[in-house]
Formats: sequence, structure tokens, C-alpha cells
Amino acid sequence: MTINPEKLVTVALAERAYDIHIGAGLLNRADALLKDYARGNRLLVITDSQVERHILPRFESAIAKAGLTAETFILPSGEAAKCWSQLEALTDWLLHHHAERSDYLIALGGGVVGDITGFAAHIVKRGCNFVQIPTTLLAQVDSSVGGKTAINSKAGKNLIGAFHQPALVLIDPNVLGSLPGRELAAGFAEVVKYGLIDSPEFFEFCETHVERFFAGDAEIREEIILHSVRAKARIVAADETELSGVRALLNLGHTFGHALEAQTGFSDRLLHGEAVAAGMALAFRYSVRLGLCNEADATRVTALLTAAKLPTNLCEAGAVTSGAELTAHMMHDKKVSGGTLPFLLVKGIGQTFLSNEVDLGDIARFLDSEAQK
Ligand code: GLY
Repeated sequence: MTINPEKLVTVALAERAYDIHIGAGLLNRADALLKDYARGNRLLVITDSQVERHILPRFESAIAKAGLTAETFILPSGEAAKCWSQLEALTDWLLHHHAERSDYLIALGGGVVGDITGFAAHIVKRGCNFVQIPTTLLAQVDSSVGGKTAINSKAGKNLIGAFHQPALVLIDPNVLGSLPGRELAAGFAEVVKYGLIDSPEFFEFCETHVERFFAGDAEIREEIILHSVRAKARIVAADETELSGVRALLNLGHTFGHALEAQTGFSDRLLHGEAVAAGMALAFRYSVRLGLCNEADATRVTALLTAAKLPTNLCEAGAVTSGAELTAHMMHDKKVSGGTLPFLLVKGIGQTFLSNEVDLGDIARFLDSEAQK
């Protein structure tokens, strides 16, 4: 794979099309990119308490160059903020500031900030605009692109939400410098996923450069983010609302992962990206068991995830339990339809496909064998 200088990706969705700008140091140039998105000279910014400390001051200095100021709503940091009470507080704040449909809300933060801001943008006055400035790797390569917005409910994660595409996405890989190592690794799981879905070349690129990526090599980070965003944009443009099955490929590892997250209480014990990593390794080993995939590919997947310090089995995920218990969690997955669970399987690295014929009893037996490892 060659390093490509192009740093603008367009999500081709006709009247909802938008650009994603990617560049080291972009946050410091946000003034030029955001001045058209301000109301008067003010931006309505939604962020969280972590980002407020580490990144917001840099953002405010950047926009000040264009004479802009930010009215800022601070969410508590963490998944618990994706709830009805914070949504109510945020929408009240937006209405208090007379947010109008033509306004652009700015989501400055990780997936939680992007998800709740996008959902607020969808419902306030039946739809405002919003801009995503993702500050975690997972948000940069996955959740900021594609318009999935949501909050959690007592019944599960992301069950109250809407598709609402942003108007613009700004990605500055330099902001990852303040991200805890564990969160960087969790985002890397979603990066690896793009190679596993349909790009053996990108998977190989990740294998070759994993150490440089985690050592902070700016060029490699930018290239890996750029490739991931291009892949996500292509998939979203092909199947915006997950109707045709193309976007469902992004769920590789997520059904096993969902069960592991449920088993660990959807808590910091196992981050979403960590669960996806273990879930992808399990999907590969299950595909080997079915005779669909060769063992060498499954071993390569485990080796790359291990190099990124990600879990690849039930024990490392802290979720050793019976297969029956884990498959019971799977039946609460929002992908269940008519009592059956579509499952992502693989024929090899870069060859993911959707199967509607997976037998959950067999998955339970497989997970029982995994629990012995
Ligand atoms: N994160 C999966 C999707 O955007 O469809």
C-alpha cells in the first residue's frame, strides 16, 4: 500500500453528502473551516469534562483567530451521559440559546458526545445541523461518520436514536496524543475491522505498522485513519440505513462482542472496542470450526490484535462463562429479527459475509470450548 496525500473524503449521499477533512494539526486551523458554521460569531459546542480540560482550550484559541466564540455545554465524561436526563438538559440548553434549524451544533468529543449531540440535533425543532469533531480514535474511524445517533435506555445500548448525518467532520489525529493507551487500542480494533471486512492489503498494512502506530508516528496514524474513514464512507454511501446488508458488515465481531459487553455489565471492565476485538477473533475461530476459513488467517488476526494489546478470548475479555449465558445475551441484541440473529462470518481476511443460518446452539457449544482456553 502506498501513502496517499489526499485528505478529503466525501460521503456520497446525494443531498445529505458531506466532507470529512483529515489532517494533523487541523484543530488549530478550525477557524477557517468553521467560520461558515457559526451563528453571528458564536458556535454552539457540546463537549465533555475530559475534552474540556485537554482539547477545548486549543479549540477556543483556534476559533478566536476568526473572531468566533463558543457557547459550551459540558456533558459528564463516560457512557452514562448517553441518557434521557442529559438529553433533556442538552435540549433545554439549546432551546435556551434559541437554537434554530439552520444552526450547526458542534460535537467536540468521543462517541458519547457525537451520539447524543447528533440525536439532539435530530429532534430539536425537528432537525438542526451538526458538525462532528471526534477526539477519540474510535470516534474518528467509526462513530463520527455515517449518521448513527442515539442514547441508551434501560433496555439496552443505543436503542433510542435516529439516522442524522452531520454536515461536516473534522479529524485531527494529533488530538489522540492525550488519549489513554487503552482507548487508543480500543479504537484500533475498529481499524483492523476494515481490513477484515474486505481489504487484505489494509490488514497487512496494519500488521506492518502496528508498532509505529502505537509509538505515535504521525504519518502512519494519518494514513490509517484516512483509509478507515474512506472505507466507512464507502459502506455508508452504499447502505445508509443498514437496509441492504452492506452496512451490516461493519458489525463484524459485534454479536460476540455485545455478549461479552453484556456479561461484563457494559462497563469500563471491557471497552466497546475491546469487546469487538475479542468478538472478531471469536468470529474467525468460529468460521474455522465451520470449515469456512483457514486457521492461519485466524492466527494472524489474533496476533495483530494481541500486538495492539487487545483481548482475543473470553479469559482476556474477563467474560469466562457458559456458552448458554453468552448466547442468551445475544438474543437481546438489536439485530435480532423474527427470532433469528444475522451473524457475520468470514471466509478469510478481507472476506466477511452475512449469514442468516447460524445455529445459536452450536455457537453456545463453541463458546463452551472457548471457555476452557
Ligand atoms: N458502527 C457501525 C455503523 O456505523 O454502522
